[in-house]
Order: sequence, then structure tokens, then C-alpha cells
Amino acid sequence: MGFADVPDTVRSRRVVFRRFGGPEVLEVESRPVPVPAPGQVRVRVAAAGVNPVDWKLFSGRPMHDAYERHLPSGNGYDFAGTVDALGSGITGWEVGDRVFGGLRYEAQADHLVIDPAGLVEVPAGLSLTVAGALNVVGRTAWASVSSQDVGPGTTVLVSGASGGVGVLTAGLCRLRGARVIGTASPGRHDVLRARGIEPVAYGSGLVDRLRTVAPGGIDVVLDTVGHGTVESALELGVPSGRINTVADYAARDAHGVRGVGGADAGVDELGLVAGLLAAGDLELPIDAEYDLVDVRAAYARSMDGHAAGKIVLRTDRG
Ligand SMILES: NC(=O)c1ccc[n+]([C@@H]2O[C@H](COP(=O)([O-])OP(=O)(O)OC[C@H]3O[C@@H](n4cnc5c(N)ncnc54)[C@H](OP(=O)(O)O)[C@@H]3O)[C@@H](O)[C@H]2O)c1
Repeated sequence: MGFADVPDTVRSRRVVFRRFGGPEVLEVESRPVPVPAPGQVRVRVAAAGVNPVDWKLFSGRPMHDAYERHLPSGNGYDFAGTVDALGSGITGWEVGDRVFGGLRYEAQADHLVIDPAGLVEVPAGLSLTVAGALNVVGRTAWASVSSQDVGPGTTVLVSGASGGVGVLTAGLCRLRGARVIGTASPGRHDVLRARGIEPVAYGSGLVDRLRTVAPGGIDVVLDTVGHGTVESALELGVPSGRINTVADYAARDAHGVRGVGGADAGVDELGLVAGLLAAGDLELPIDAEYDLVDVRAAYARSMDGHAAGKIVLRTDRG
């Protein structure tokens, strides 16, 4: 019997890697549908987001100690789907509930089992696709913006304002009433303007362009990409305590700027971001959806670094 003939009730696919390398190390393997232990719920995953941290991990790049390394490994962190089984002792969740969250090294699968403390309800009006892309970028953007006093009268620079973390970071700053300048490639400038963000091209000459756009100075810099953003901010005279980076820990250590990121926000903050998205107050664009079996192509696009929003794997189309 071929894999395609195995009934859904007994088969469950997941993305794994058995060695470090490029997207070619990613495979989709079959396993029995996992059974929730007491105190766990099982989620039938519909959508699982792709993040740069995933490819940094499967490439074998040195990472912070918080990231365990083991082979073989599952892959992915973000998911959204539907509760489809309850372990004993579960209260407050029902089969059929729409949920999202994060489960590192486990998310890119047909099914996962999880402690429900890590789940967030998907609000009405929010698609599973967007919810499945939200965990890492939502927590990171919320934590980064919350690391600073941002409000009316504040001029904020968000680097990478067209990227997954950057689009939410810039959006949250706008909701707080700040003036937001965002760096992006020129092809994204119209989209940024439509979101109320003043676009500036990144790359050589950035400091001069920022002086022209903000002659009165920049108060806060929220760096979501690295690429010299911290050094440019310091050159502009922004105090180190008013700079937060989620992407350049070498610059954080060298210059004493802040490094508040996704680990500094949890499910409560994710719920707040999801509510803002559902209400239409925030936007998280989707660049592309791939079938789970096309996971290598999804990561090739992410590693290119210029996706127009989030990349999401779908488990319900393959
Ligand atoms: N510390 C944490 O908790 C945490 C959490 C999440 C992410 N991160 C890190 O944050 C970074 C961004 O993640 P993401 O999910 O937002 O990635 P992403 O969606 O792939 O976005 C990449 C961004 O980088 C911009 N970019 C590409 N080349 C650039 C260059 N040479 N100079 C300046 N900007 C450039 C892109 O702009 P264009 O498309 O306009 O070219 C885009 O806005 C990654 O390094 C990731 O690992 C850290």
C-alpha cells in the first residue's frame, strides 16, 4: 500500500531533518498519529509558519543556548489548527476549538500534542493561515515595541518594516500614535505608505536619508533585521537604551543596546495581537502558502530574505 492510500486516521506526517544543511536536508516522514497524554491536547494542524530561526537551526548555525540541538529533529515553531483529541483531565478546551501557538521543533506536522497552557484561541475573523504564522513574529513584535516608551510625539525607526516581525512592529507603533519610519526595498515603499509608514531604502547612504526624512532626530530604533541598523542608529545620536534589536546580538553586546525579543512575551500578548488582527487594526500579509510536501521550496523563499510577508505551510492540501 502506498503512502497516499494510508487512511488519515492512522497516518500523520511531519517535517524532519537528520543532518544540518540547506533546505535539501528537510524531509516529510510518516508516523502514527500521536496520542495526547494526560493533561495534553492534540491539534490537527492546518497551517504552520516558516521563520528565519528555523533555517538558522537546521543549517547548524551557532545559536543561543536556549536552542537545543539534536538529530534527528522535527522542524518549525508556529502552528494553527483545530483541537481534535483531549487527554484525560483537560478542562476549558473542546474538540473543534480553533487554536494557535508555538511548539518548537514540532509544529510542521499534521498533528501535534501540547500542554494547553501554550494554546491561544483563534478569534473569529482571523484565518488559520494568518494565525499559523503569528506565534514568533507576534510575540517578538509585541516585546520589542513594549521595550520602549512609544506613543504620540515619538519618532520611531523600524528596520525591515516589510518583513514578518517588522510589519507588526511598525503596525503596533502606529497604533500607539507614533510617527513611524520604516526601511524596506524600494518595491515595498508604496505598501508601507498605505500603512501610514514613511519608507526609506536600506543600504549605503541610509544615515543621510534618515537625516533628511527626520531632521529633528529619531527617538527610538526597533531593529528587526540587523545589517548595520544599530550602528546607523548610534551614528544618528540615538541613545543605546532607546535602541532594541531582535536580529543583531553581536551589535547588542558590542554597543550595549537592548535585545528584547520573542522570549519576552507569551500567550497573553499573542492573544492581544491576534485580537488586533481580527479587528483589522493590524495587518500580517501572507507572501505564499505551500503544501507541507513543498517545505524545501518554502524555506528557499524564506532564506532569500525578501518575501512580501509570511510564508506558511498548509497540511490540508497535500
Ligand atoms: N530575537 C527574536 O526573538 C527573533 C524573533 C523573530 C525573528 N528574529 C530575527 O529577526 C530577523 C527578521 O525576521 P523576519 O521573520 O521578520 O524575517 P523576514 O520576514 O524574512 O523579513 C526579512 C526582512 O529583511 C529585509 N532585508 C532583506 N535584506 C536586507 C538588507 N540587506 N538590509 C536591510 N533589510 C533587509 C527585508 O526587506 P525587503 O523584503 O523589503 O527587502 C525584510 O523586511 C531574522 O534574523 C530573525 O531570525 C528574532
